[in-house]
Amino acid sequence: MAGEAVLVVGGAGYIGSHTCLALSQAGYRVVVYDSLIHGHRAFAKFGPLEIGDVRDTARLSDVIARYKPAAIVHFAALIEAGGSVRDPAPFYDVNVGGVLSLLNAARVNGQPPVVFSSTCATYGAPLTPTLDETHPQWPLNPYGWTKLAAERMFADHRTAYGQRSTWLRYFNAAGCAPEHGLGEHHDPETHVIPLAMFSLLGRRKDFTLFGEDYETRDGTAVRDYVHVLDLADAHVRAARQLIDGAAGDAYNLGTGDGTSVKEIIAAVERASNRKIPLVKADRRPGDAAALVANSAKAARDLGWRPTRSLDDIVRGAWAWHASEEASVFPPGP
Ligand SMILES: NC(=O)c1ccc[n+]([C@@H]2O[C@H](COP(=O)([O-])OP(=O)(O)OC[C@H]3O[C@@H](n4cnc5c(N)ncnc54)[C@H](O)[C@@H]3O)[C@@H](O)[C@H]2O)c1
Repeated sequence: MAGEAVLVVGGAGYIGSHTCLALSQAGYRVVVYDSLIHGHRAFAKFGPLEIGDVRDTARLSDVIARYKPAAIVHFAALIEAGGSVRDPAPFYDVNVGGVLSLLNAARVNGQPPVVFSSTCATYGAPLTPTLDETHPQWPLNPYGWTKLAAERMFADHRTAYGQRSTWLRYFNAAGCAPEHGLGEHHDPETHVIPLAMFSLLGRRKDFTLFGEDYETRDGTAVRDYVHVLDLADAHVRAARQLIDGAAGDAYNLGTGDGTSVKEIIAAVERASNRKIPLVKADRRPGDAAALVANSAKAARDLGWRPTRSLDDIVRGAWAWHASEEASVFPPGP
């Protein structure tokens, strides 16, 4: 029902802010709860911003009690897979401890249902050309394990306490909505499209292509890039389904089309009309040749279908990264 509140934890970040836009366009009242450790005040503009850490159960509980959200969308996490290998403790603290804190805060406030940001990284090495939700889950890094542990906690809380939740396993989120003043701004940035663009804008010396000897059509790694506004739309649908009484489920979110790194490079060069300064390096350990989603379940249950193309993704990202706004974008709070 339009006008209901939705609490977006981590709503000042990249995917969270685009989801706030989509939720407010769908008629929900958005409330953002974010520590701003990696989020941005400028992105939290679709409703009140409550600054707080998700691990602060008392503060989060107070916010839930005040706004009485019909649903919670939980994005807050540490997201850099490589960093989680070097230093896993903070990842378990925020990504697992944070979910436990959120579940405890929800439990004393009428258990609003939760939409949870999960990831294709929970699957690990792919055993099939495309991955559906029944694919075995055996992550390749601590980041993936934290997300799988969180899924397990949600499952156990559903069984024991009736806490409803839906887990959205995104493939590669990409693109942005510069027309709404929203972009991608991670620190450190590890995503391929922004990194390619930084090399064109002099924010990095060059762009490193890791591996040309994969068993893929052009030898470079293939991933499934899904527009962040398509992801945002899936969150609105998942939240609505839960608000309407569903128990919740797990859904893969991707386009079903794989794109190689060389194809990304070509698309970025087309959009920018510039040549990327390329450096070639060996494969990175743990990188799969191809990770592509089968999202038939989300299509069936949520009526979700991504509508934006790779060129839409790259055009929007280029408009954002090349803009004055992004180049002076303030890091952190
Ligand atoms: N970006 C992707 O391609 C991708 C893919 C799969 C899954 N995900 C998941 O999606 C979610 C959002 O990712 P993103 O790319 O928007 O990241 P992001 O870093 O832009 O957003 C995360 C937000 O959470 C906030 N946050 C972090 N720790 C917090 C804490 N302890 N308390 C309160 N707020 C905290 C940050 O300040 C930030 O605003 C994450 O859970 C991530 O694991 C992202």
